[in-house]
Amino acid sequence: MSKKVSLTGIKPTGQVHIGNYLGAIKQALQLSEKYDARYFIADYHALNTVRDKEEMSQSTYGVAASWIASGLDPEQVLLYRQSDVPETFELSTFLMAFTAKGHMNRAHAYKDKSAKNQADGKDADFGVNMGLYTYPVLMAADILLFDTDIVPVGKDQKQHVEICADIAGSINHCYGEELLRIPTPVMNEMTETVTGLDGRKMSKSYDNTIPLFMPPKKLRKLVMKIVTNSQDMEEPKDPDTCNVFALYKLFADEQRQEDLKARYRAGGLGWGHAKQELFEILEETFAAKRDKYDELMADTSYLDKVLAEGATKAREIASATIGRLRKASGIGSL
Ligand code: ADP
Ligand code: TRP
Repeated sequence: MSKKVSLTGIKPTGQVHIGNYLGAIKQALQLSEKYDARYFIADYHALNTVRDKEEMSQSTYGVAASWIASGLDPEQVLLYRQSDVPETFELSTFLMAFTAKGHMNRAHAYKDKSAKNQADGKDADFGVNMGLYTYPVLMAADILLFDTDIVPVGKDQKQHVEICADIAGSINHCYGEELLRIPTPVMNEMTETVTGLDGRKMSKSYDNTIPLFMPPKKLRKLVMKIVTNSQDMEEPKDPDTCNVFALYKLFADEQRQEDLKARYRAGGLGWGHAKQELFEILEETFAAKRDKYDELMADTSYLDKVLAEGATKAREIASATIGRLRKASGIGSL
């Protein structure tokens, strides 16, 4: 029996951060040991916000390099760029015909933006383009094109995968056969929402991220900016309500967590000390990966080669899905 398929995508919008790593990349790479893994760079999703050519191309390389530096082996995992698979856009048009407009109204990326507009006294659709409004349809095309069983993502993407499953269900029902595989989102409870420097969800849109591969000096400076309360060094502190510890525990084993907790509770540990501990564990976790990342970014010819090979393989799978849909629907037949 062939393996089940795991698929996920990351947008090339700025630098990949530790929320992306823990929410998506790390679990996706673990899953790639058992699943047929298909991971990609969602550049057409980024186009909704990224309008600078250089930024788009550098972030695209950055996402590809982050995957590989984090351990993705392109011989084992299919790595490709969304825009290299034009079948995605045909499928997206197909899906539009089966997508309830109400679903788009309720999809959180659009809903959050229009709610914020209204709260700011602006028109609900101010600054909303159709790419943002129909975002879940393009994402559904990414997923359904590749016969996906599971989608490793952070919690913010759960609703999009559910919308995708719903659209696929309508199509299967309409044609009376299992044309499209129904996907399920997969999340890790510990890391489904990683907090950022200010204690809110870590996100590029909140400008509170810790990028994965920063030079150590910059990384340390950023870690020192994590928001804490104003307790003195001598006071005992509560690890469970602390933004520094919230991140530390995602990297430390049980023993190290217990040790640091005890030091918090004993008093005498200043915020600077706690942040230094976090900085050190981040360095331990990412220093070797950062070297690999820097090497890949210094000469992008290897990334170009991997993405070109990925594109060829991805299109083979994609055209089979499109062929199936065209045949079942009578589209393109004489
Ligand atoms: P951002 O929200 O920073 O723009 P993306 O939308 O590109 O990041 O997210 C790429 C992947 O990383 C998605 O699977 C998303 O769910 C996951 N992710 C993003 N931020 C976090 C976070 N703070 N915690 C857990 N997962 C996250
Ligand atoms: N929408 C995802 C995000 O904002 C990125 C993405 C695009 C994606 N297509 C996908 C994730 C398909 C999983 C599967 O992070």
